[in-house]
Amino acid sequence: MLCIGDRTFGLRAVQAALSGYSDRPMRLIARRHGGAELAMNEVVLDKIVLQKGKLRKEILSLGADDHPTGGQLMGSRPDQFAAAANDLVEAGYDLIDINFGCPVRKVLGRCRGGYLLTEPENALAIVRAVIGAVAARRPVMLKMRRGYDDTAASGRSFLAILDGAVALGISAVTVHGRTVAQRYVGPANWAAIARVKRRVGTLPVLGSGDLFSAGAVRRMIEETGVDGVTLARGAIGNPFIFRDCRAVLDGRSLPPPPTIAEQRRAIEDHFALASEVYGPEKAGIVMRKFWIRYSDLHPCASEVRRDFIEARTHEERMEALRRWYDPEREWPPVVRREIPTDLIAAGASLE
Ligand SMILES: Cc1cc2nc3c(=O)[nH]c(=O)nc-3n(C[C@H](O)[C@H](O)[C@H](O)COP(=O)(O)O)c2cc1C
Repeated sequence: MLCIGDRTFGLRAVQAALSGYSDRPMRLIARRHGGAELAMNEVVLDKIVLQKGKLRKEILSLGADDHPTGGQLMGSRPDQFAAAANDLVEAGYDLIDINFGCPVRKVLGRCRGGYLLTEPENALAIVRAVIGAVAARRPVMLKMRRGYDDTAASGRSFLAILDGAVALGISAVTVHGRTVAQRYVGPANWAAIARVKRRVGTLPVLGSGDLFSAGAVRRMIEETGVDGVTLARGAIGNPFIFRDCRAVLDGRSLPPPPTIAEQRRAIEDHFALASEVYGPEKAGIVMRKFWIRYSDLHPCASEVRRDFIEARTHEERMEALRRWYDPEREWPPVVRREIPTDLIAAGASLE
């Protein structure tokens, strides 16, 4: 059980905020096909929430079937941050998450995201403003990387923000065990996550970094003492990881890997939802990155991936789907991978 403020969740594995991924289709797929509960929306800029327009409308129209969802915000001005948090609450978001972790160069250049880990005063002014605006109605969480970099000054700023935010009344903190400077290079430092948990005591901590299997989730919880985890890259194209986590965290054995029929149902459902949200043309483009990751679960992963990448039209993609996910055909057994193959190709390692 995971308790954040007055909210309780049966599953301690949360769908992480993932820019470009954790949209309504991905969140619903995680829930329908994996049994996920809490899912975080991708980070959104406070300014975009406040500006009248298509994007604001999209962000603020959270479906009745899309709960519980956390709304994550990024910005640099406390007043603007608080006003956007208020709009997310009014739109029905179940939790508010403050992003002090994004390492994208443009974001850092505008003094947002991970940059705020170097500015404890402004960071805490943002936390104070958001808590003042919404904490009476919704839990407020903080998402941090374990520091800006490995300098002693960065360590001091991190602790000043953490301690200050706890004193101001945040309901939980998520810690990604990499520094901002590290981006995604090298392993996440789980020991740093354990230190945060020891420091904040009973405040719920969610750990993040290198969680690609239910086994890794259990190990992180055991090794660091965190109350829960957020699944990020490990959940892209693999909603089934949530049901694995539920079983393993409930002390049951790992369920069998998803059958070809289950995989097909998830992909078809994902495509249908993406078509509803983006229209069929754009859905094909949005789905490309997911299909490549879904193919990782298939026993003929590299051929499936090739056909999805080479498909030029919607019909060609559907044809590849029907051919490779024909449940009537005899397939070699489905096996789980510890790390997605495209991340191995990109140099990821858990060492
Ligand atoms: C493509 C991508 C987009 C991300 N977008 C967000 C985001 O919007 N908000 C956030 O707090 N973290 C974001 N993250 C960070 C993840 O939530 C997570 O902390 C990080 O990927 C470490 O977990 P992992 O090693 O298990 O993937 C993103 C990560 C990736 C790879």
